[in-house]
Amino acid sequence: MLSTLDDLKQRLQTALVHAFGPDLAGTDPVLVPTNNPQFGDYQANVAMSLAKRLKDKPRAIATKIVEHLTIDDLCEPPQIAGPGFINLKFKTEYLQGQLKAVYLDPRLGVPMANPVQRTIVDFSSPNIAKEMHVGHLRSTIIGECIARTLEFLGHDVLRLNHVGDWGTQFGMLITHLRDVCPEAITESSAIDIGDLVEFYKQAKKRFDEDEDFKTISREAVVDLQSGEKTARKAWQLLCEQSRKEFQKIYDRLDITIQERGESFYNPFLDDVAKDLTALGLLEENQGAQVVFLEGFTNKDGNPQPLIVQKSDGGFNYAATDLAAIRQRTIDEKAQRVIYITDAGQANHFAQVFQVAKRAHWIPEGVELVHIPFGLVKGEDGKKLKTRSGETIKLKALLDEAVTRSEQDLQQRIKDENRQESEDFIREVSTAVGLGAVKYADLSQNRTSDYIFSFDKMLALQGNTAPYMLYAYVRVQGISRKGDIDFTQLGDAPMVLEDDTELALAKHLLALDTILLEVERDLFPNRLCQYLFELSQKFNQFYDRCSVLQAEEPQRTSRLMLCDLTARTLKLGLTLLGIQVLERM
Ligand code: ARG
Repeated sequence: MLSTLDDLKQRLQTALVHAFGPDLAGTDPVLVPTNNPQFGDYQANVAMSLAKRLKDKPRAIATKIVEHLTIDDLCEPPQIAGPGFINLKFKTEYLQGQLKAVYLDPRLGVPMANPVQRTIVDFSSPNIAKEMHVGHLRSTIIGECIARTLEFLGHDVLRLNHVGDWGTQFGMLITHLRDVCPEAITESSAIDIGDLVEFYKQAKKRFDEDEDFKTISREAVVDLQSGEKTARKAWQLLCEQSRKEFQKIYDRLDITIQERGESFYNPFLDDVAKDLTALGLLEENQGAQVVFLEGFTNKDGNPQPLIVQKSDGGFNYAATDLAAIRQRTIDEKAQRVIYITDAGQANHFAQVFQVAKRAHWIPEGVELVHIPFGLVKGEDGKKLKTRSGETIKLKALLDEAVTRSEQDLQQRIKDENRQESEDFIREVSTAVGLGAVKYADLSQNRTSDYIFSFDKMLALQGNTAPYMLYAYVRVQGISRKGDIDFTQLGDAPMVLEDDTELALAKHLLALDTILLEVERDLFPNRLCQYLFELSQKFNQFYDRCSVLQAEEPQRTSRLMLCDLTARTLKLGLTLLGIQVLERM
């Protein structure tokens, strides 16, 4: 089925060709929603953009377009306003038909992508032997949402966890552990992640202060990278410990991701150097092998080098990413690779993308994108910290969200004199608490910093997960109260009369447009905003129109509107990684 917006667009495009000839085929009719519903639903602004080209007044152009526009089955007669806006208002019968088709469609009117893209989403990606921090939490939440959305649209998605499991940190960690806790690198489970993080800090301190330690650590990295046995074994044990910890967070947040860390690309590093040398891109600079970047200069105004291989022979983070690009585009045949990290890595990605391009590893039509996000801050506007000033552990943060949501629930249960089982309380407070954390993150424009506030994210009013979950629960309540089986309504016609019904219907019909926007621009907050407005429009409709008490045919039609709202909320929240509840 053609979406309402696409339908409008095509009609306008046909009119343009009929009015001005085939040269205008494919012209964008510049359709935008009207600001004021009085003027209709959409306005086409194409007449203004064509004025120069057609050497005529926009109003005259608009008139000619309208004369050639066949649209009576869709819209009321178009109105020309101002300098040449074409105002379009959908006919109610058309909306009813469209809405009915969406109602009967299990995909809610959202078409499958064509062509399907082989897509890699590189997200979460914490570092071994370090604690996963809030930045990784953001990457995890955003990445999961983007992967789910692209998968729903039918893309072939590979979710990759590019964990930092390969680098200087292992050299110093292994060297330090050899001295202070040798069993940690010979026996499994000798230490836990907390110890590991502590040892890491000590090792880092020694590394920064002690030249000899630094040298031995560097040798240890080279040993590891060249496959020396005891270093390998030590490294494996350290990775396993961290992996277990990461997995706990993923299980809790319902994250699906496959680990393919930096070490995976080790065997391909030589090929990177070879390709770059063959093209004459790799040069020696102060003992290191580098590529001089275009458009990046150091403070003296000279081209900045990207180090590919350090003077000691070791490869770094950038080299690994180069190998990863090469492997992903050539071996994995990825057509789109999406990297989700904090904005602080924007330069890193711009640089490795540039080198990859110059090395011809990015075939025509393949897109590499960095999806940057801002910092998570505390309510004081500073870096998120515990009361005693330490960095917040993710586990503690998620625990607190659930505890607070349980307190809210207990209070509600008391106020409303309800009896609820422990299982119910556990399920609801977990879903609401974790959903709130995810929604708070996803509903922000990801490029800005956001303030982490339990009170705001758990509020029942506003653009929050609980507000959305409530709208869903409200609909389920209608079905329980009226003993309605929502799956048995589809034969009845849709009748839209009240303004609130029409507004809700039009919003429901825009889901496909929003998801295509998320697919293209990768901004999950658009979907959040859509769901928020959907909940608001639903509440306005429900406050104004009776449903169970209404006469037929309104009653069944309104029940269908309720059901479609709930199904849309459920789909949208699921794409955000949020579990819906039948009661709360
Ligand atoms: N491990 C890195 C970090 O914690 C993120 C890796 C992102 N992915 C990549 N391909 N570089 O900052």
